[in-house]
Amino acid sequence: MKVLGISGSMRKNGNTAQLIKVVLAQCKDAGIKTEFVSLAGKKILPCLGCGKCKEKKWCVIEADDWGGIAEKMLDCEVLVIGSPTYYYDVCGQLKNFIDRTYSLYHDRKLSGRKGIAVAVNASKGAERTVKTIEGFLNSHELSFLGEITGTGFEEGDVMRDEKALAHAKKVGDKVVRLLMPHHD
Ligand SMILES: Cc1cc2nc3c(=O)[nH]c(=O)nc-3n(C[C@H](O)[C@H](O)[C@H](O)COP(=O)(O)O)c2cc1C
Repeated sequence: MKVLGISGSMRKNGNTAQLIKVVLAQCKDAGIKTEFVSLAGKKILPCLGCGKCKEKKWCVIEADDWGGIAEKMLDCEVLVIGSPTYYYDVCGQLKNFIDRTYSLYHDRKLSGRKGIAVAVNASKGAERTVKTIEGFLNSHELSFLGEITGTGFEEGDVMRDEKALAHAKKVGDKVVRLLMPHHD
């Protein structure tokens, strides 16, 4: 698929998922193939720090859901990756997912793709959350297309954050222009 959305939230259709889906909807409306993956309910074990991925070029942990999602990431052109803000940073599930991509880092397997960072907070901390995600994207040499932060506490609250929605649509349009330069 061309545009892949990944939400690290344990709420399957929480605020992060909904904000990511605004970007995906803009792309889908323009005829671009999209896919959304929630890490909710997925088994993503932490990186062991064993370093064996340097030779193996893949994570040695095979008994969880990380590999299937990593394959999708390798298959995309644009990655829209987001997290709820937990203590001013990404949530643990997304951090585990990111840490495991060390196995893709050695050969810069994600290089050349484009990335967008998304974060939602109830009141504060989303700036650091998007910075952490930006650090992940930069380390893997994805071109950074921008960040989207939104505010909301209960599931769905973010859909009332007009500023965040407008910005998400704008970023979605940017992806459309990039992937479909002749689209109007
Ligand atoms: C463990 C935990 C830590 C949180 N830490 C913060 C925080 O530091 N700042 C903040 O504004 N909101 C914080 N929140 C609220 C969430 O960021 C907020 O509810 C967000 O909308 C959740 O997104 P989601 O629906 O995608 O999971 C925290 C929530 C939880 C469960």
